[in-house]
Amino acid sequence: MIGELSPIEKAKFVAAKRAADLVEDGMRVGLGTGSTAAWLVRCLGEKVRDQGLRFRGVPTSTRTAELAREVGIEVTSLDEARWLDLTIDGADEFDGEQNLIKGGGGALLQEKIVATASDQMVVIADVGKEVEALGAFPLPVEVIPFGWQTTQALIEEMLVSMDVLGRKSSLRMNSSAPFVTDEGNHILDLHLGRIGNPRQMALALNQVPGIVENGLFIDICDIVVVGYGDGRVELRDINEGTVEHDRLDLEENENLFSDIAD
Ligand code: A5P
Repeated sequence: MIGELSPIEKAKFVAAKRAADLVEDGMRVGLGTGSTAAWLVRCLGEKVRDQGLRFRGVPTSTRTAELAREVGIEVTSLDEARWLDLTIDGADEFDGEQNLIKGGGGALLQEKIVATASDQMVVIADVGKEVEALGAFPLPVEVIPFGWQTTQALIEEMLVSMDVLGRKSSLRMNSSAPFVTDEGNHILDLHLGRIGNPRQMALALNQVPGIVENGLFIDICDIVVVGYGDGRVELRDINEGTVEHDRLDLEENENLFSDIAD
């Protein structure tokens, strides 16, 4: 099954598999959302089943909660857990300072709350997510439905004074209806091209009435686990200033998850 994956999926898988080793017995762990995080949840489910790993997971979306339960992970809420040892999640982009754009899957609000409530945030990503400057990926911003068009106009006006290449934004759709987040909000995707000052942008966006949260994660991520299509994996720890190199034998994992379709 693993052998049949595209190089990008293999890269996501190896990053997720390496990060799953960071979870220890008794931990409270934030579980991210998206295709890379889904690999993580499956790898953790395998460890629960085959190695008797015992931990509690706090999912960042209904999708992740469903998958986590399906693979046998004990699921709890953030209110129950209060504080987490570790959160592992994907990202849409990460830069050299380990700042991120997240929210491509529409779960940025819960993801940011959960990551911020963790001793450590670990990002798992294929190497294609690494960028010199954030912003080529449209920046997701969660807005409340009331007056969203006014919020959009206010954002575009605010962007005039920002160091960006583009100022257009679009309402995220789900077929013909606006996309609705787990919290009942909408998402505006900002097509900025390049964000000159992500920190300033994150602060300015959250001043606009109607915005609940933005997808810039600044100074939140501690470790990025970068996966490559050939099985190589790098663990970059920004606090320690270290880079650890590893390689996963993809042939050894060939039959892993052969029972699942994606
Ligand atoms: C979900 O809202 C996002 O923040 C995801 O973590 C991000 O979009 C990465 O998704 P993939 O792992 O599917 O690329």
